[in-house]
Amino acid sequence: MNTPKFPENFLWGGAVAANQCEGAYLTDGKGLSLVDMLPDAKHGRFEAMMAPKQAQATTYDFYPSHESIDFYHHYKEDVKLFAEMGFKVFRTSISWPRIFPNGDDMEPNEAGLKFYDDLFAECAKYGMELLVTINHFDTPLALLNTCNGWADRQVIDHYLRYCDVILRRYQHVVKYWLTFNEINMLLHLPVFGGGVDVSNVENPMQVKYQAIHHQLVASALATKLAKEINSELQVGCMLAAGETYANTANPVDVWQSLEQNRENYFFVDVQARGYYPSYSKRLFKEHQIVIEMEANDEVILRENTVDFVSFSYYSSRLTSADPEVSKQTEGNVFATLKNPYLEASEWGWQIDPLGLRITMNVLYDRYQKPLFIVENGLGAVDTPNEDGTIEDDYRIDYLYHHIQEMGRAIEDGVECIGYTPWGCIDLVSAGTGEMKKRYGFIYVDRDNDGNGTNKRSKKKSFDWYKQVIATNGQAVYGD
Ligand code: BG6
Repeated sequence: MNTPKFPENFLWGGAVAANQCEGAYLTDGKGLSLVDMLPDAKHGRFEAMMAPKQAQATTYDFYPSHESIDFYHHYKEDVKLFAEMGFKVFRTSISWPRIFPNGDDMEPNEAGLKFYDDLFAECAKYGMELLVTINHFDTPLALLNTCNGWADRQVIDHYLRYCDVILRRYQHVVKYWLTFNEINMLLHLPVFGGGVDVSNVENPMQVKYQAIHHQLVASALATKLAKEINSELQVGCMLAAGETYANTANPVDVWQSLEQNRENYFFVDVQARGYYPSYSKRLFKEHQIVIEMEANDEVILRENTVDFVSFSYYSSRLTSADPEVSKQTEGNVFATLKNPYLEASEWGWQIDPLGLRITMNVLYDRYQKPLFIVENGLGAVDTPNEDGTIEDDYRIDYLYHHIQEMGRAIEDGVECIGYTPWGCIDLVSAGTGEMKKRYGFIYVDRDNDGNGTNKRSKKKSFDWYKQVIATNGQAVYGD
């Protein structure tokens, strides 16, 4: 096979999210986000997500997001390291409660805005583009308590007030915007995805899809707003992607995989095509879901589709219609069947580089919009040698094969804007709250209980990725 070529202006970089790296959880007027009430997995992170009221009434020993890796105070040092790797783009999110501490405030918190002025200026200093997620799992906690988060339509207005402020303020420094991180998260972990508590509701599916409708309308309106403010801005949707394979050639398995893929593509179907897919009628009927819409909602969705489709990819998934086949393993957002052809990470996430090429081809065939891979990577335990060096060959191996497949997908004809591997600097895991599950090219001296100096050091993968960027991806085709 010919060596694929990445486009000349391909955006190589890395990704983080405010709630997983900034820390400083109450500094300079920041309000609480829903993530700030979550302990680590050992102390019931998952249970807290399922029953947020009880969680708030509980005092846990440790809250990973409160300090995290203290990016808030280390960003200059960190951005300098990103620049040394040659990043052309840096993906981060803005913390909504840093700007609007309670979500429904009328005026923004100037000190919060100042932090992003400084952070973005620092990135611009090194010529980096910015890719900013407007809402990455950190809906202000107050909104969960006052109106059950995105289940309430008025959150659209609060979100748009926030969008208006940041889009105007950062329009000249941030070109790429994502309206919601992994918008399909709301279906699987509604507290995380949208501050929605379904623990005591009669029909959780009704509440979730109503909240999803609100996010879809909000996303379309944010896209409209962005274009009105500055027509140069590029707005994308963001999906926790990964094709679901059928376990066997039995048509019932194939049908089930189609249905499960649709469950996720549903979101992008609306955001990229501009209308609810025809299959949603049956889905809603089966689950007794009636979406309450305002008169103009369908027009809003239709007229404000996204410019590009971004996604996270960690693994493919596998499904079977046979109840006897039940060997589950962990995965991003939701568990999946174990695929006997794939190895898995220490956290059970299966490793499938070719699945990235498949996912990219499917997404591009389906939407014909440029793709942006905004998360990919291996969560692994890194053990420093005595001299402090970290030889993370397993991470290099993971990224190497995924980048190869990404290149092949581009060769297949898929248009792809860029690649920002997840957790380019070690940060708190979203799913487990651990530090031990590391993704970075940069090691941070901090453990699961919050001990450590926060000192940053380069792993072996740092120089390797630098070389990948310097050769515009050709370094992965050297063998
Ligand atoms: C995605 C999220 O779900 O996966 C990130 O957008 C998250 O926030 C990443 O960190 C990896 O998941 P985890 O649970 O290993 O941190």
